[in-house]
Amino acid sequence: MSTTLQNDLLIRAALSQQTERPPVWMMRQAGRFMPEYWEIKNKYSFLEMCKTPEIAADVTMLPVDLLGIDAAILFSDILVTAEAMGGDLSFEQGIGPRFSNPVRSAADVERLSTDCLDKLQYVADAIKVIQQRLNGTIPLIGFAGAPFTILSYLVEGGSSKDFKLTKLLLNNEPQLAHKILQKIADVTVDYLNMQITAGVNAVQLFDSWALALSWNDYQEFSHQYNKYILSKINRTVPVISFCKGSSVFAPIMAEANPDVISVDWNADLKNIKKALPEGIAVQGNLDPFVLYAEKKVIKDKILQLFERMRGENGFIFNLGHGIMPDIPFDNVKYAIEVVKEFRY
Ligand code: CP3
Repeated sequence: MSTTLQNDLLIRAALSQQTERPPVWMMRQAGRFMPEYWEIKNKYSFLEMCKTPEIAADVTMLPVDLLGIDAAILFSDILVTAEAMGGDLSFEQGIGPRFSNPVRSAADVERLSTDCLDKLQYVADAIKVIQQRLNGTIPLIGFAGAPFTILSYLVEGGSSKDFKLTKLLLNNEPQLAHKILQKIADVTVDYLNMQITAGVNAVQLFDSWALALSWNDYQEFSHQYNKYILSKINRTVPVISFCKGSSVFAPIMAEANPDVISVDWNADLKNIKKALPEGIAVQGNLDPFVLYAEKKVIKDKILQLFERMRGENGFIFNLGHGIMPDIPFDNVKYAIEVVKEFRY
């Protein structure tokens, strides 16, 4: 894993090496809390933005240029793999993602394609444009959705509060669920390898909704497939494993051998780290709602976390989940300044 980046803090922390301060990036840093995002979004649909490499690069660069973060994350969405497999995906303002052809029967599952990497070529193209723009300054993080989280969108036909249809499928037709999960896992391996070949410096697997699962179901329907993916991808760049629920599932997540586990805000990050095998770094875990608060509070809560993590190699500062669209831009910028001024 050699790198010639000007700022390789994120890579060093991901590999559990010493850093002078924690690196910082934030999930959903390229998004709606930025007025500059809306200037672009008002001209194009979300999927047009994802699928046009120059526009995806423009949006990826917004937080790089305006916030000075330590890593860029590819502007895309976890659901593009599901679309390439045959999901009829749209994003509707105020509603979120929608699949007009949800996957619920054996025939639906049969129709899901696994030979669809060519449909995702625009992502490799975007990565190349972004790396030209970054020009060796900071790492670029690629990503994919984890099979369970992707399955939930395909089955529900969109976002869900309670994952009722997803759980009905897991409970009543586990074999069918496994067929879907294996198909998604195979596409995800190809997709992440494509991103690594195209030049990303790290990858994150997003299993956002794993927290909906019981301990046993997490192992059977989520972990097993994440482990498969991590064992099959080209491990030349650090791999970050994220889920909401990692406060509980971290010991299982570690068995998939990620370089980093990204932790939600329920757990004490140091306790999580201490319980993990040596060499697995942690990322997190500020409650994103702190970023609505007064600046003094934002600073205190960040420094409190840093004091707790002092002396630990392998710590990347991030939120426990993504930035909400109505968090004030100034507060995000301030939080990043606080991190960048800190020294161990
Ligand atoms: O983090 C980044 O800045 C990089 C880009 C990124 C997006 N989505 C952009 C996006 C990443 C990494 C994602 C991942 C993603 N997408 C996840 C996993 C992370 C998480 O938040 O848990 C999930 C579950 C999705 C699915 C998805 N995409 C949803 C539920 C929505 C609607 C969100 C909402 O709050 O309405 C999206 C749309 C989406 N993805 C937007 C952005 C910037 C908003 C699109 C718009 O402008 O309307």
